[in-house]
Amino acid sequence: MKNLIEKLYSTGNLTDSEFQRLIDSNEDSGLLAEYADRVRRKYYGNKVFLRGLIEISSYCRNDCLYCGIRRSNRNAGRYRLSRKEILSCCETGYELGFRTFVMQGGEDSYFTDDFMCSLISDIKNTYPDCAVTLSLGERSFESYRRMKDAGADRYLLRHETASAELYGKLHPSEMSFENRMECLFNLKKLGYQVGAGFMVGVPFQTTQDIIKDLRFLQELKPQMIGIGAFIPHHDTPFANEKAGTLELTLRLLGILRLMFPKVLLPATTALGTIAPDGRERGLKTGCNVVMPNLSPVDVRKKYSLYDNKICTGEEAAECVACLQRRIESVGYEISAERGDAL
Ligand code: 5AD
Ligand code: FES
Repeated sequence: MKNLIEKLYSTGNLTDSEFQRLIDSNEDSGLLAEYADRVRRKYYGNKVFLRGLIEISSYCRNDCLYCGIRRSNRNAGRYRLSRKEILSCCETGYELGFRTFVMQGGEDSYFTDDFMCSLISDIKNTYPDCAVTLSLGERSFESYRRMKDAGADRYLLRHETASAELYGKLHPSEMSFENRMECLFNLKKLGYQVGAGFMVGVPFQTTQDIIKDLRFLQELKPQMIGIGAFIPHHDTPFANEKAGTLELTLRLLGILRLMFPKVLLPATTALGTIAPDGRERGLKTGCNVVMPNLSPVDVRKKYSLYDNKICTGEEAAECVACLQRRIESVGYEISAERGDAL
């Protein structure tokens, strides 16, 4: 394994069969983390960027089999934030030092282009030093264009899987793999800084599927890559499936850092959910972004993508203080910058 890790460190790439061996093994995980940390420090020092996550809607027209807010889940609590509530999250966030706001939600037609554009330009006018990131799923080219013109800087849309076959097993037949891919390339074309990503250990996923994800990311060249373990949600068809492991997620984070030295790599909430020190371990394996929750506490439990999600009871300020402690405990520091990719 040492040879493979060193080859990946010095060249940024491996053959498919080398990736297969590296992913399937759990040897030398300490060495992989060490190299990943060396690379992240070379470009980003010990800085960790904060993104304030505002979960604007738990309504979703989609029915992804893994997701707790899928439309077929009659038990899911539904809410949407008003414009005023969203702006108030931004205000709290700005005072806490956030310079990026991420508005994330299910695919909810209530949030029309007109609504979003006016909200985005309002936020950009009030906080010209902040980046606005959207994570609202698949929309038309025209919609992405209008929101970009209104001032949106970034868009997060996980590709979920680069295998059309696996995609078909995770989504109902009315959802389209091709459309998702097209959305990602449209976002790039429009000049968004783009975040893609996938779940680790989702049902039916093989190592070959993961290698396809790595190859797809090499082609797309996103500025951010979000990965997290799959965690079952009790009200979905995957309720009884096994969660992805911390070990494999960390291994892939290390591999991604070596493949994409300058990428933004979040230590995700899912990572903190599968292990109490998951996010800290992620930071030590190449991650350089954390996304504390700024959503109002009374709606947080309703944005339940998977079971046992952390940070659903804490106020924004508590989350930030908690994360600051965690980040510093492993030798990194919070950066007050917008944190654009290099
Ligand atoms: N476990 C882990 N991650 C999930 N997501 C959705 N459902 C789950 C789950 N059960 C992820 C998807 C989506 C992101 C917002 O959350 O990758 O893109
Ligand atoms: Fe939210 Fe620790 S990060 S409570």
